[in-house]
Amino acid sequence: MAAWRGLIEEFRDRLPVTATTPVITLHEGGTPLVAAPGLSERTGCEVFLKVEGANPTGSFKDRGMTMAVSKAVESGAKAIICASTGNTSASAAAYAARAGITCAVLVPQGKIALGKLAQALVHGARLLQVDGNFDDCLALASKLSQDYPVALVNSVNPDRLQGQKTAAFEIVDALGDAPDYHCLPVGNAGNISAYWMGYCEDFEAGNSTRKPKMIGIQAAGADPIVRGEVVQHPSTIATAIRIGNPASWTKALDARDASGGAIRSVTDRDILAAYKLLARTEGVFVELGSAASVAGLLASSADGLIPRGVRIVCTVTGHGLKDPDWAVASAPAPITIPVDAHRAAHELGLA
Ligand code: F0G
Repeated sequence: MAAWRGLIEEFRDRLPVTATTPVITLHEGGTPLVAAPGLSERTGCEVFLKVEGANPTGSFKDRGMTMAVSKAVESGAKAIICASTGNTSASAAAYAARAGITCAVLVPQGKIALGKLAQALVHGARLLQVDGNFDDCLALASKLSQDYPVALVNSVNPDRLQGQKTAAFEIVDALGDAPDYHCLPVGNAGNISAYWMGYCEDFEAGNSTRKPKMIGIQAAGADPIVRGEVVQHPSTIATAIRIGNPASWTKALDARDASGGAIRSVTDRDILAAYKLLARTEGVFVELGSAASVAGLLASSADGLIPRGVRIVCTVTGHGLKDPDWAVASAPAPITIPVDAHRAAHELGLA
């Protein structure tokens, strides 16, 4: 089997690139679509997980960033900027390092997971913590990109969505058709818009016979699309999706309505339960924001929004190692023993 070359080379004819576009890649994409037997049994459906934590920086953002940074370099940019709840900044910093350009990052102070902060810093981003939320950071980043020579690489940049739509192509390739339903977390609403674009393009190209109903999941304290109004002070343990005024709001509504899907919310408690369930029964360690999609699947199965017998793909958007604090906090603390086999056997429940 030929080695995966990164999504620009793999999907070159379906992306807005030319032979002269510089390809800035870490060989992102080509992520596993893993069957989820535990979730399938619980829901009476055939459930697959699109494991986007397997991307080079541990989240789906790399799909958008390879495109956005390649196009920025093509247009002569020497610097990029983004606002972020963490993953976008980690990805932007890595791709900027790869391209040899400057990366500026604005994050909400105290509200991003430590692993993501570590990534942005280690790749050499110029990072400022802003005394505000993500929506404030995005407004600042947009203004700076208008006033200074720096390219904005948030998902309002259309190249980002072009890259991210390739996840839908991979799913159709792997399953031989589109699934009946697709569940994914919604924050700034770029990804649901990108997937919908990808599924529509595949359908129009004759690669699939159907388009999935798109089920977008927001956290209950940060659910502006569900409420139909901006949430001024969004709050959730899932910091990745702690967003009160999504930039791609209208596109997300279009994906919902055109697909016959839904955008719903789940509580932090539901998210934490799904997080543990995924880790313990499927062996897949995701971050809390990603577990929202599975929490939404379980809620939708329980209340009949998703019927039994259908095929579902759930995108789990980011790796659990991004935020180890939650993993440690949500499990019993390990005990310490002397160097003693009997004691070890006893404590491990082997004796
Ligand atoms: N899941 C994770 C792990 C995320 O980091 C994000 C967004 C989403 C889901 C939601 O995707 O915004 O396209 O609806 N993270 C952005 C960031 C906002 O800055 O890293 P969306």
